[in-house]
Parts: sequence; C-alpha cells; structure tokens
Amino acid sequence: MKNILSPSILAADFAKLGQDIETVKKAGAEWLHIDVMDGSFVPAISFGRPVMESIRRVSDMFFDTHLMIERPERYIDYFAEAGADLINFHIESTQDIGGTIEKIRGAGKKAGITIKPGTPVSEVVPFIELVDMVLVMTVEPGFGEQKIIPECIEKVRELRGIAEKMGIALNIEVDGGIKLTNVADIIKAGANVIVSGSAVFKGNIEENAKAFLKILN
Ligand code: DX5
Ligand code: ZN
Repeated sequence: MKNILSPSILAADFAKLGQDIETVKKAGAEWLHIDVMDGSFVPAISFGRPVMESIRRVSDMFFDTHLMIERPERYIDYFAEAGADLINFHIESTQDIGGTIEKIRGAGKKAGITIKPGTPVSEVVPFIELVDMVLVMTVEPGFGEQKIIPECIEKVRELRGIAEKMGIALNIEVDGGIKLTNVADIIKAGANVIVSGSAVFKGNIEENAKAFLKILN
C-alpha cells in the first residue's frame, strides 16, 4: 500500500492559507486534509464551503474532506461541488450509512467512513467493501493539538488484519496526535494515510512535511 501524507489545514494560518498549502505541496504532499466541524457533532465550528472553494481555485491537491457534522447526507452534493475529492463522514453521525456512501459515489467522489475512539472496529466492517478508505480517529474529534490515544493504534492493527483476510487493499487513515516520533509505529500497525495538523503546520512547515515524507516513503 502506498503511504500518503494528508496535512490538516486546521492547524494552518488562515491569514495566509494559500501560501501554507503551497508550502506543503512543494515539500511533496499530495493530499490535503480538510476538517469541517458544525458545532453540533463536535463542539467546535471550523470552516465550510467558501474556504474550500477558495483553496480549490488555487490548488490541484487531492482534497481529503473530513466531515464532522450531523446528518452528513444533507451536505454531500454541497461539498462535492465545492471541490472535495474524497468525502469522509462519521459512522456515528447518521442513521443512513449506506445511503450516504451512495450519495458520495453518485457525486463521483471517493468515499470514506470514520470511527471515533469509542466506536469498535466491528461497526465499520460491514462497510469496508463499499468505501475507499476508513479513518480511525486517534483522538476525540473536534480539536487539533491533542495527545494520541494509544488504544486506537490497536484498532488500526485489528482493521488491517480484517481487511487483509477479506483480500481488500483498504486505505486506512489515522488522524489526531500524529507526530514525527510516533508515525513509524502507526504505519507498522497498518495505517497508510497519515493526517497531521500541528506537527506539520506549526514551526517550519516545509521541513516538517519533508521529515514526515521521509519516514513514509
Ligand atoms: C481533529 C481533526 C484533526 C486535527 C488533527 O478533530 O480531525 O484532523 O486537525 O490535528 P493534530 O495533528 O494537531 O492532532
Ligand atoms: Zn480530521
């Protein structure tokens, strides 16, 4: 499986967002992780469509959209039109998981499904054949700069084992508290798509992204 770095713009400086995105792209990142929070599914409100449309106009990176919103099925076309390449929604946020995946597919986008730290891997297993990626949260969603919950790494191992047994080359993404110091272990556990916010965008962005990519490649 190809390892991918998906820097989370939640930790970028929004006053110079275009420039920060340019920097991670120049460093070699191909994906961009876009955290949409509604103040209801998670306590915080981040940003939405206008920001996404603006950065879509200046970036050809792969937009990995992480929807932390209630009933995401209402907003699939909305974010597809705004420029998402992959739409990731929380299994805990909707009663209509199958319908939401179908809507994403119908919009011609890649589909991802996300589980919070407290949600067991078994809940996502019925859907792994229907999606391109499963995001295993390694912190409680809602805020950047939190500490990783180590038990979540075991969930990655479990999910990779199940996917392999099923013969599926599943993209497994991890998000929250990923640092240069723990990323190698997380890849070893079976993750191949690595989200990082603060460890990329705080400090020297180019050096940080390059250091991650060196470990990933
Ligand atoms: C948290 C978001 C994350 C966040 C990660 O709810 O989903 O993508 O930006 O930030 P760090 O890498 O700083 O933990
Ligand atoms: Zn995220």
